[in-house]
Amino acid sequence: MFITFEGPDGSGKTTQVHLLYRYLKEQGYPVYLAREPGGTRIGDQIRAVLHDVRNVEMRPEAEILLYSASRAQLVGQVIRPRLAAGDIVLCDRYAESTLAYQGYGRQLDLATLQIITRFATGGLRPDLIIYLDIPVEEGLRRRLAAHQQDGAEWNRMDQETVDFHRRVRAGYLQMAQTEPERWCVLDASQPVDVIQQRIREEVLARLEGA
Ligand code: TMP
Repeated sequence: MFITFEGPDGSGKTTQVHLLYRYLKEQGYPVYLAREPGGTRIGDQIRAVLHDVRNVEMRPEAEILLYSASRAQLVGQVIRPRLAAGDIVLCDRYAESTLAYQGYGRQLDLATLQIITRFATGGLRPDLIIYLDIPVEEGLRRRLAAHQQDGAEWNRMDQETVDFHRRVRAGYLQMAQTEPERWCVLDASQPVDVIQQRIREEVLARLEGA
């Protein structure tokens, strides 16, 4: 089973994916945790280029190809072999981030992005997408606080306008609406443990039904 976590910046998905990973491990499930961009040695090098705040001149076309290159490496080197070995694979962001950020956010042609994504992933899609929804202002506020108080990463995407992040969120909500059986939409303004409980229920129900 392949489960991805998606959400606008500051939605708390990284916290939630780590909690779920630990929980499933404790329950005795074989589970692997990956993240995007990165998750491989090559992917981590690509991540550094993508997130470098000095790379202000990066073209949107270069951006989508770099995210896709990182994804192609992760899918081929890690995700497919792990799934074939019977692991549950959790991934902090995946292809839907590209559609949300480069498609809706940057307003690149969605059909082209889908072709590139299919090529990069060989058509591998998540069985379940956990989407943590948060109003843009609240997400950005959390993100800035985490950066200033805890030294959390501040990357190129964090420098984008509020309008950009609004388009990203609207894109996520639109995708979730068109494929409700694949998406689990949760209100990320709830307490961490309440959200985690809902995620566990959703995942266990699907694991038991599988
Ligand atoms: P994160 O690791 O903190 O979630 O940051 C990743 C950033 O990269 C986040 O702002 C979303 C962005 N991103 C894209 O724009 N496109 C993609 O395909 C992926 C995977 C991430």
